[in-house]
Amino acid sequence: MISPKEFQRRRRQLMRMVGKGAIVLIPSAPLLKRNRDVEYPFRQDSDFYYLTGFNEPEALLVLVPGREQGEYLLFCREYDAQKSVWTGHHAGLDGARAQFGADDAFPITDLDDIIPGLLENRERVYYPMDRVGELHGRLLEWVQQLRGKARSGISAPGELVAVEHLLHDMRLFKSAAEIGAIRKAAEISVKAHLRVMRACRPGMHEYQLEAELLHEFTMHGMRSPGYPCIVAGGSNACVLHYTDNSAALKDGDLVLIDAGAEHHNYAADISRTFPVNGRFSAAQRDVYELVLEAQAAAIAKIKPGNHWIDPHDEAVQVLTKGMVKLGLLKGKVSKLIKDEKYKQFYMHRTGHWLGMDVHDVGDYKVGEAWRMFEPGMVLTVEPGLYIRPDSKKVDKRWHGIGIRIEDDVLVTKDGCEVLTRAAPKSVEDIESLMQEKSP
Ligand code: GLY
Ligand code: MN
Ligand code: MN
Repeated sequence: MISPKEFQRRRRQLMRMVGKGAIVLIPSAPLLKRNRDVEYPFRQDSDFYYLTGFNEPEALLVLVPGREQGEYLLFCREYDAQKSVWTGHHAGLDGARAQFGADDAFPITDLDDIIPGLLENRERVYYPMDRVGELHGRLLEWVQQLRGKARSGISAPGELVAVEHLLHDMRLFKSAAEIGAIRKAAEISVKAHLRVMRACRPGMHEYQLEAELLHEFTMHGMRSPGYPCIVAGGSNACVLHYTDNSAALKDGDLVLIDAGAEHHNYAADISRTFPVNGRFSAAQRDVYELVLEAQAAAIAKIKPGNHWIDPHDEAVQVLTKGMVKLGLLKGKVSKLIKDEKYKQFYMHRTGHWLGMDVHDVGDYKVGEAWRMFEPGMVLTVEPGLYIRPDSKKVDKRWHGIGIRIEDDVLVTKDGCEVLTRAAPKSVEDIESLMQEKSP
């Protein structure tokens, strides 16, 4: 759980960074319609949640550094007793102040009356340009309204600035509490992967394994995965974001599972690939052990001072060398890498930042240079090989093999810690676990 003090620390840090002449506006996520009278489960916008812990739609955070009557303002829905009968608790203006620490709270319906006054004599407006939506148009109207008042000595903001650069750099470095939340999401996600390995049998359908994953998440209070579960039997694993999860699992095939739970809005992201019948074939084992070797080599590159791209470069090196050995590629390793020939079988990057968003925020480059690892960053390491069934000039024995192995890694002072290490991944560990069939 993130404490009210930590939310406050974050708001103060952002206000320090934007400076006295600025104002920050960050809207909540909208409630989205699924179909008539039915909405999708609500998921708060990560930037908004990061600064407030407030979990309702129809809200706007306003930070006004240095404002004497209060710097932290929340616009939200007013408490409505009738509404609470239908959809349950909502904080209301009193709750926004008492539970969420807002210096003041106003009805979300009063934006047009209140925001222009707050913009007066501020120089810069920071807001999320990646997802402006409706706010952008309204902001321009409010600013224009103020510009019309120049003769009465009121000045309007002259700069609109993307808040992402500052805010996302804060989110890139995880606090102890955030690492705790990711650890918990990882712990339950590992349990889910173990459950699936024990439950899997030929003839089951992919969605039945998905049900095992969701069962484990939900039994631990994690009501939603951080992203849709991928359960991909056989060559379905060659579709990187396969989420149909509808096919039967065949004896002799592998199954690739990419699934992670979300805990207090922090995600885990784990992939494991294992044989449907509990035993790797010789060909599957060859490719699997190559991906595993690439993953170990990539993880070994994660330590402060190394660059973001180092694990990827290392994985590409190991995979390309191994593919030449297996006969999947022909030629000189350095030339195959230079010409990007490995991309036929390995077409994605080796990882991404991980946090409140599964593909979390934070720049991967600083200017022209790849970012250096620093303690508190969390990332995934997920090399794979995907040999589509129609791959030309490739021995048939490799056809339809798709493998990804993915772990979540915390950068520490001296190196790194694999937060998801309890999910088995050696051939021996997987095969022996799969002997422990669940009832
Ligand atoms: N689950 C999405 C990813 O691994 O990036
Ligand atoms: Mn991932
Ligand atoms: Mn994943």
